[in-house]
Amino acid sequence: MPPETSAAPTRLLDVRGIRKVYASGGFLAPTRRVVAAEGVSFGLDRGEAVALVGESGSGKSTLARILLRLEPPDAGQILLDGEDVLAREPRRASLGYRGRVQMVFQDPFGSLNPVHTVAHHLVRPLLRHGKGLNPAKDVGAHLAGPLVLHQRATPQSVRARALDLLRTVGLEPAEDFIDRHPYELSGGQRQRVAIARALAVDPDLLVADEPTSMLDVSIRMGVLNLLLQLKKERRLGILLITHDLASARYLADRILVLYRGRVVEDGPSAAVVESPAHPYTRALLASIADSSPRHAGGGKPVESHADSTEVACPFAARCPNVHDVCLKIDPQPREFDGRTVRCHLYPEGAPSPRS
Ligand SMILES: Nc1ncnc2c1ncn2[C@@H]1O[C@H](COP(=O)(O)OP(=O)(O)OP(=O)(O)O)[C@@H](O)[C@H]1O
Ligand SMILES: [Mg+2]
Repeated sequence: MPPETSAAPTRLLDVRGIRKVYASGGFLAPTRRVVAAEGVSFGLDRGEAVALVGESGSGKSTLARILLRLEPPDAGQILLDGEDVLAREPRRASLGYRGRVQMVFQDPFGSLNPVHTVAHHLVRPLLRHGKGLNPAKDVGAHLAGPLVLHQRATPQSVRARALDLLRTVGLEPAEDFIDRHPYELSGGQRQRVAIARALAVDPDLLVADEPTSMLDVSIRMGVLNLLLQLKKERRLGILLITHDLASARYLADRILVLYRGRVVEDGPSAAVVESPAHPYTRALLASIADSSPRHAGGGKPVESHADSTEVACPFAARCPNVHDVCLKIDPQPREFDGRTVRCHLYPEGAPSPRS
């Protein structure tokens, strides 16, 4: 056995072979199996942003829910700093995990409670997990239980931390925002409060599901820049979920393109956007150039998912480059030109499309 020190450094997040199949249908309706995730594997380091991109129904939020431990996968592993998260006892695991993996939702209004002030939204997570206020977290014993209050966590010190958080997310002067209610804020300001709340527990990983899609175009950039700054300055790992390749390119180091629950392309953001390999990625990019929704994703809208017994490439019916083999064999992921592509156009050892 080689010594442990020679092993590759542990990644913050290592997702391996996630599979999730839903049975849908209902009374008198035939049951249909929807493959929402199939063989999804990727890694994410501290200070790295990875974008999951795909059209509606491709399985983005399913993966987010699985990563947040809101529902279990049918198969696969999630390693956080090398520790198998799903193997842990659920209550213990979820308490500690919540302190390390946080979520920002699409709708900041829906995710903030309208009857409570900004202060209320920040104080609760600060008391639960906040570093510097709760010594249990600082010594790594934060699995112990909720609301472990340190004697020195005075109302003043908690409020001072909440004000700091507001400054961190660019809501200044913080004193003007802390006692307001969500309805007294703009959409962009509300999303900043939601981000501040996520940061209150000092997480290692932020999962952001369409964080800017409900915001006015003019303020989207501000929120993306805030995430970029948190990634650089706090070395926060970010999983950005979006249908928008332009935001993904702007924020993320790597882009994973999802189609029907499968990662069909995974590579550095610039490479994926500037020279997309998979025909589906090309179709998504073309749909940015032609913003008509009819063209999103390359033509037909996606309604039905193929059954898990399918043997064809799931994209074959929509693919402009379809070959006989595509109708017979579901392509497996292949290393190709610095990325991983799931497509028969790129057999093992094929030359780069640019060479
Ligand atoms: N609880 C569920 N029961 C049955 N099917 C589900 C369930 N949750 C999701 N699905 C199906 O799984 C597939 C993936 O859904 P998911 O919400 O992950 O897509 P998405 O990429 O987040 O889409 P959007 O961009 O619209 O948010 C869809 O076909 C959806 O209908
Ligand atoms: Mg979704």
